[in-house]
Amino acid sequence: MRKLFIPLLLLSGLSQAAELSAADSAAAQQLAKDSGCLTCHSLTEKIVGPAYASVAEKYKGQDDAAAGLVQSIQYGSKGKWGRIPMPAHSSMSVDDIKTLANWVLTIQK
Ligand code: HEC
Repeated sequence: MRKLFIPLLLLSGLSQAAELSAADSAAAQQLAKDSGCLTCHSLTEKIVGPAYASVAEKYKGQDDAAAGLVQSIQYGSKGKWGRIPMPAHSSMSVDDIKTLANWVLTIQK
């Protein structure tokens, strides 16, 4: 019983992290648009920054992926994807940044 229980818990935790309801996903996409993210990013194509689907692919299965993305978005990022840096978004609320980081990790090509 105990042996079964732990993997099941792990599995349900993972699937929660990888899925958002359609409404949450739409709200996050609107937030990305309103926050100016989509001037540099697209869901599936590289523009100035990497496609969100590529970001999700790169960090797939990493427990601390969302926390790392929060840091990148909040303080800026350089050298992870190429030569162009991402500016910091220090005036955004951390809650909004977390919402965006979790959403980015759900995007698929
Ligand atoms: C001025 C253009 C620009 C804007 C605006 C911008 N980004 Fe970026 N973003 C980039 C670039 C360029 C990179 C690649 C940085 C690097 O190589 O480390 C990047 C990287 C990222 C990454 C991957 C970070 C990592 O650790 O691998 C995420 C996630 C991301 N951006 C999300 C966002 C979100 C969410 C917003 C809006 C709040 C946003 N970006 C706004 C240009 C931008």
